[in-house]
Amino acid sequence: MKQLKFKNGDTMDAIGLGTWKSDKGEVTKAVKTALNNGYKHIDCAAVYENEAEIGEAFNDIFKEGKIKREDVWITSKLWNNAHKKDDVIPALKQTLKDLQLDYLDLYLMHWPVAFKPGVGFPEKDEDYLSLEEVPLIETWNEMVKAKEEGLVKHIGVSNFSIPKLESLMKDTDHTPEMNQVELHPYLQQNKLLEFCSKNSINVTAYSPLGSGDRPDAMKAADEPSLLENPTIIKIAKKHGAGPGQILIKWSEQRGTAVIPKSTNEKRIKENLMSAGYQLDEEDMQEIAALDYHFRYVNGKFFETEGNSYKNIYDD
Ligand code: A2P
Repeated sequence: MKQLKFKNGDTMDAIGLGTWKSDKGEVTKAVKTALNNGYKHIDCAAVYENEAEIGEAFNDIFKEGKIKREDVWITSKLWNNAHKKDDVIPALKQTLKDLQLDYLDLYLMHWPVAFKPGVGFPEKDEDYLSLEEVPLIETWNEMVKAKEEGLVKHIGVSNFSIPKLESLMKDTDHTPEMNQVELHPYLQQNKLLEFCSKNSINVTAYSPLGSGDRPDAMKAADEPSLLENPTIIKIAKKHGAGPGQILIKWSEQRGTAVIPKSTNEKRIKENLMSAGYQLDEEDMQEIAALDYHFRYVNGKFFETEGNSYKNIYDD
């Protein structure tokens, strides 16, 4: 499997286990299954509301002693209601407590969107804080502090467009080390990848399989299926692989990290084994032709009538 490199020499396995939408009742077992079957990269976030259950898995596995903490790359994310200066480090400490860890390998600002403290998911204009009220740099500077204090080894962002990255980078010497974004054959984001590569920002692909298990409220009635795309199925048949494995391999082969979510033992194992396939030039060209800038996670859920979060992806 490919590894992503960081400036200080640290490396991260390209294929990790995603935990967004993993039920509390299933995620402890899923994370243990993943770690016991070779995963060395687990992606978490406070807002997934399952970090305490994931923490149980880490605690059990590291206590057993076969797998060491330092051999696993663990990412988490700061939720939007803790962007204010005094809220960032306490939110991180809560995540560390829930995950039963002393440090994270990577901490990401989950969205370039701020809510008022205490708001889990906003319903009205007043639940939001604008980026004038809480500038991204205010939040970022606290993340830099967390890194300096050794609470996290690397810091980055998620769901940032090129303009958002540029606006943050002009105010800091600490360029984000990662941008985690939606990325799959229908949303290939070549310009963003090029920008990140030029600026030594690693990229992680979320929703690589189309996140078919997300809430209905986040789905369009006529949304396309990646796993049922005829080109993906044809390429999967050619390699004797499953369509999910082709989608994961495609991300890994492009040099991004990729975090397929599964709580199913067979698919958890299968997904890691995607690394063993190799897509040829023809496969890559056919998949390149599937791009039509379609987002499953379209960001509209952050738009209220009077708030300032319209077109958060700037596209
Ligand atoms: P399950 O957890 O039952 O395996 P994404 O990573 O894009 O968010 O997609 C997650 C969805 O894809 C979940 O519904 C998950 O179900 C399913 N899934 C995970 N791995 C595979 C696979 N290899 N083939 C088909 N579906 C998969």
